[in-house]
Amino acid sequence: MNEPVVLGIESTCDETAAAVVRGGTLLSNVVASSMNEHARYGGVIPEIASRAHAEAFVPVVSKALADADMDIADVDAIAVSAGPGLAGCLAVGVSGAKALAYAAGKPIYGINHVIGHIAVTQLQFGPFPEDTLALIVSGGHTSLLHVQDVARHVDVVGTTLDDAAGECFDKVARLLGFPYPGGPHIDRHAQSGDPHAIRVPQGLTQGKAGAKHPYDFSFSGVKTAVARWIEERQTAGETIPVDDVCASLADSVASVLAKKAVRGCEQYGSRTLIVGGGFSANSQLRAKLLEVGARHGIEVRIPEIKLCTDNGAMVAMLGSNLVQAGVKPSSLDFSIDSAM
Ligand code: KG4
Ligand code: ZN
Repeated sequence: MNEPVVLGIESTCDETAAAVVRGGTLLSNVVASSMNEHARYGGVIPEIASRAHAEAFVPVVSKALADADMDIADVDAIAVSAGPGLAGCLAVGVSGAKALAYAAGKPIYGINHVIGHIAVTQLQFGPFPEDTLALIVSGGHTSLLHVQDVARHVDVVGTTLDDAAGECFDKVARLLGFPYPGGPHIDRHAQSGDPHAIRVPQGLTQGKAGAKHPYDFSFSGVKTAVARWIEERQTAGETIPVDDVCASLADSVASVLAKKAVRGCEQYGSRTLIVGGGFSANSQLRAKLLEVGARHGIEVRIPEIKLCTDNGAMVAMLGSNLVQAGVKPSSLDFSIDSAM
């Protein structure tokens, strides 16, 4: 099958999304988010997100097919995120996708959402070079991956030992009084602040002794240091220089991510760095990666923002890679894996 048509379905967290891809071309991309329903709780409430998926599933999938001017009969395969993510949310998307595959007699692929964040960059930049490194940063994961073949062979080079980068931003944002998700608010305020105003430690720049490898990340110490700094000023009745706090935090997190990613590229001989995940929408990280990449002769592939945050295109694109690589479809009784 030269250019398979794949319907991708995503429901790992608070986005119900579906997209249709033909080969490496995006035909439609529909996203419904329950984010506003979680804002007042300060984080995603799994029960609310699962209900929202149950309501949005059929409208979102129908619109993705209609926007691509297709019927389910025109689709060669269905791909769905099987993990990692919130179990109840995954169960809704996977059950819906299985029902559709069963009724329409289509093959189904349960895919890894994190690898989807890598695969999606092909829609904007074309096929991967033979051997490349990928930095995936979001609210739930921060990983450096060695991509030999996106369909079959992706190894973890480094991962966070505690908080993900987005999680660290969201927690500091809460202390500063921003609603969930706070990451974009920190980004906006950081743009008017001084990144060197406050000394923020850089988590694990050298790789902690005893860590599995030198490419692991740690953002919990960074979060604690900033939280303590804010609390001390608040206790003393001082005004918090919000823009400077945001700029200093953003600079610390972006610097360590860029440093390790480039060091990884050099060790693995990769001239390309793939970047993905919701946190890669962050302006400070984007700027830092492009700057450090240019300095080291590394092509940094960061997709446009709507492909960075959770979407169906990433699932459909990875599904397309699996079909094209001749990977066997999943059986209809495959399980979700929230910790994949
Ligand atoms: O990939 P994603 O949409 O969902 C997860 O799989 O986690 O990532 C969401 C995370 C949240 O922590 C959010 O605060 C963060 O990405 N984020 C940002 C920005 N946009 C989203 N963090 C910093 N700056 C941004 N512009
Ligand atoms: Zn994600």
